[in-house]
Amino acid sequence: MLQRPRGTRDFLPDEMERRRLIEQRMLEAARRWGYREVCTPDFEHLELFTMKSGEGIIQEMYTFEDKGGRQMTLRPEVTAAVLRMYVNEGKVLPKPIRWCYVADCFRYERPQKGRYRQFWQFGIELIGADTASADAEVIMLADEVLNSSGVTFDLHVGHLAPMKHLLTDLSPEGQRAIMACLDKRDQGALEAALDELDHGHLSDPLAALSGCRTIEEIFEIAGDVPERARIEDTFALLDAQGIDYLPDFGIARGLDYYTGMVFEGFAQNLGAENQIIGGGAYRLAHLFGGDDVASCGFAIGFDRVMVSIGDFPLDSGTIVGVVCTPEARERALEAARAFRGAGFRTEVDLMQRGMGAQIAHAAKTADFAVVLGRREVDAGTVTLRNLETGEQREINLDDAIAEVARHGDR
Ligand code: HAM
Repeated sequence: MLQRPRGTRDFLPDEMERRRLIEQRMLEAARRWGYREVCTPDFEHLELFTMKSGEGIIQEMYTFEDKGGRQMTLRPEVTAAVLRMYVNEGKVLPKPIRWCYVADCFRYERPQKGRYRQFWQFGIELIGADTASADAEVIMLADEVLNSSGVTFDLHVGHLAPMKHLLTDLSPEGQRAIMACLDKRDQGALEAALDELDHGHLSDPLAALSGCRTIEEIFEIAGDVPERARIEDTFALLDAQGIDYLPDFGIARGLDYYTGMVFEGFAQNLGAENQIIGGGAYRLAHLFGGDDVASCGFAIGFDRVMVSIGDFPLDSGTIVGVVCTPEARERALEAARAFRGAGFRTEVDLMQRGMGAQIAHAAKTADFAVVLGRREVDAGTVTLRNLETGEQREINLDDAIAEVARHGDR
C-alpha cells in the first residue's frame, strides 16, 4: 500500500470542517482589525529565503531546480513572500498596510506530534508603521486571534535590544550563533559557544536576562538601551488594555530578520512542540529591492492550535436523505433540489437498492428521509420520515421543507 510522505497528514471531512471553522474565526478576528487576506505562491525563488531567514530554516528547505534550471523552494514561511509581494505590488498602497494569510509551509524537520513537514500558518503582517502602537497592535491582535480559536496559552513578549546590547562585542556571525542557542534554550550549547568565542563571562547576564520578569530589572542587567522608551511605551499600552502577557527578554527567535519587539506564545496543554505563535518587528523589504520599511507581524502554528483544542462536536445542520423507487426518480431529484434551495444538505440515493435498504442507509447518515414511491408520485406528495423518532407523514413538498426547517431551528 502506498503511504503519504513522512511528516504530512490527510484530513477527513470532520477534521476539515473543524479546521475551516477555526480558520474562519481567525480570519474574522483579523478582519475586524482591518487585516485583509492575501495569497502568495507555494514556491518561490530560493534566494528569497536564503537572504535573511537564518541557517536553521535554510537547512530545512524543500529546494529543487525547475525545468528552466532555476533554484526554487517550497516556502518554509510566508513573511518573506508577503514582503516580496509588497515590493512588487504594494508600494503605492497607503500605509500602514494590514494583510493576513492562511498558508501551508514546508520544512524538512524530524516529524513528531505537532511538528510536520507540511503545516499551516495563520499570519498577519503590518507594513509601514514604526511605533510602539504598531508593536502593541500586533500583540493585541495575536491575543485576540488565539482567543477566538479557544486555545489556552501563555504569551511572552520581549525585545531584542537588551540581548543585542549584551552581545555587542561579538561579530554578526558570533551574535547569530549565540542567538540560535538562546532560541533553542539549549544552555549546554550556549555555554560551549560563548567559551569558543571567548565570551564565557556573558553566560550569567544572559541567564539573568532570560530569567527576569520586570522591565526595570532588564535595564539594570543590560544597561540603558536606546530602545528603552519604545519598550516601555509598548508594554504600557498592553497593560492599559489588560493583555495577559509575561515580559521575556530571553526570546531570540529562530529567524534572522527581527529587529525589535519579539514575542512567542505557548499552549498550556502541549508537550515539547508547544510554541503556537511567533512574531515581532522586522525589516525585509529593502533586501528585495524596496524601501527600508518597518514591518511587524506574527504567524500562528495552525496545526498546533488544532491539536491543543482537540476534537469538538460539529454542528453539521439538518441532513436530508432522499429515497425513491425507480419510477419516482425524477420527482426525487426535484424534491432534492427544493430542499437544497432551502439550504439543507440533501443526499439522493445513487445505489438503486430496495426502499428498505435505502431507508436503513438514510438512518445512518441523515436526520430525515424524504420518501418517494408510486403513491407519492400519483398524489403529488412526499412522505417525510423523522429518522430519530420514526414518525412519518405524507404531506406536500413545501410543508415537508417547513417541517424540516422547524426541526433545524430547535
Ligand atoms: P516561526 O516561529 O518560524 O515564525 O513559525 C511560526 C509558528 O509556526 C511556530 O510558532 C509554530 O507554531 C509553527 N511551526 C513552525 N514549524 C512548524 C512545523 N514543522 N510543524 C508545525 N508547526 C510549525 C515564522 O514563520 C515567522 N514568519 C512569523 C512572523 C510573521 N514574524 C513576523 N511575521
